[in-house]
Amino acid sequence: MAQLWGGRFTKETDRLVYNFNASLSFDKRLYKQDIKGSMAHASMLAKQGILTELEKEEILSGLQEILKDIESGKLEFSPEYEDIHSFVEANLIARKGDAGKKLHTGRSRNDQVALDMKMYVRDEIQETDELLKELLETLQKLMEENLHTYMPGFTHLQKAQPVTAAHHLGAYFEMFKRDRSRLKDTGKRLNLCPLGSGALAGTTYPLNREYTAQALGFDGPTLNSMDSVADRDYLIEFLSDLSMIMMHLSRFCEEMILWNSNEYQFVEIDDAYSTGSSIMPQKKNPDIAELVRGKTGRVYGALMSLLTTMKGIPLAYNKDMQEDKELAFDAMDTAKGCIALFNGMLSTLEFKKENMEKSAKNGFTNATDAADYLVNKGVPFRDAHGIVGRLVLYCLEKNISLDEMSLEAYKAISPVFEEDIYEAISMKNCVEKRNTIGAPGSEAMKEVLKQNKKYLEE
Ligand code: ARG
Repeated sequence: MAQLWGGRFTKETDRLVYNFNASLSFDKRLYKQDIKGSMAHASMLAKQGILTELEKEEILSGLQEILKDIESGKLEFSPEYEDIHSFVEANLIARKGDAGKKLHTGRSRNDQVALDMKMYVRDEIQETDELLKELLETLQKLMEENLHTYMPGFTHLQKAQPVTAAHHLGAYFEMFKRDRSRLKDTGKRLNLCPLGSGALAGTTYPLNREYTAQALGFDGPTLNSMDSVADRDYLIEFLSDLSMIMMHLSRFCEEMILWNSNEYQFVEIDDAYSTGSSIMPQKKNPDIAELVRGKTGRVYGALMSLLTTMKGIPLAYNKDMQEDKELAFDAMDTAKGCIALFNGMLSTLEFKKENMEKSAKNGFTNATDAADYLVNKGVPFRDAHGIVGRLVLYCLEKNISLDEMSLEAYKAISPVFEEDIYEAISMKNCVEKRNTIGAPGSEAMKEVLKQNKKYLEE
């Protein structure tokens, strides 16, 4: 046990207490951020005349060596250190002696951990955003390829009106686009630097907080030192963003599982993204989609956990806040992994276009268009609705579709029907006539694709 704070203690920490309290096993992943933050802090201390140039050079070269040794595997995270901050500082002192002992001047682990975690989340936001962008590129390509792939659109999981696969996928494009914009907002709001807030009340040293904020890529320093060390809003916000992404992925997965089922047969998930059964030789299971759907609960769990941890904590820093890490790290890894895997599954998916179109035809998805036909001939909509309801009943009895009804049968129900009804309710017409902004018609969709393309190039 190599502690930073032994001075006022007369007894060794109990081993169980030490283990319970220590965080190195999970906060070691903050090493890069911790070292970068320390470098900026040391440079600032020298600039302010608190350290000499020589001391600064010693510290910077020591930190550089530590970084190199960690990355090459030469320096291991041994459990005798309480957390990543003690680990780096103790190592620096071992290498550079008294200069190393001066690094922590005007700093507390409270502002240090707040800084490290913010920088970590900032990088994670970037990586998650890049993965989402790749997913959007896959979606855009699939939409371009499926502008005329007709399929049923559903409400209540009952066939409703015909759409296209491009239109259906386009709904997810919008969702992931919003997710990216949420990430951007979170990144913007978090980008104020807590370093220099000390334990809670700032310091008496003439620190230059503007300098460190700028050196570390922040928009400026935070404005209240108590809030700086007690704030985990940005992390809760990020976990909420990730939860939303997972919710979208999970809905998408659920649809792919349905579409891949023997009952739907709209798509076939590639062998590389499926698994078999140990007993049933015929099985090809959509495990990846199911796992992504399942892991959504885990990410929500991290969000709920941190919200709950934070809800009763008095200002400023309390050790409860160390609990912000393990589940949050897990959620970040999980979400990134899921986006990447889902993208792989989606980009190798086979669309069974004929099955989709056949399904759209068998299910009265053109019934609204039959009613609209009557409206165009002067029948009030409510009457038209009733007439088409009787057509559907007739078809259900005969087990045929609206397209297969004879003109006599149409006329027997309403004399308004003419030969042009067949054209009016054809699949092509039903879809292609829907060209208001955001509708599935290919003219409307082409406009959306154009906007998407511009958005992806930005
Ligand atoms: N490991 C701690 C955390 O993650 C670092 C801050 C510790 N500060 C303190 N005064 N004990 O929150």
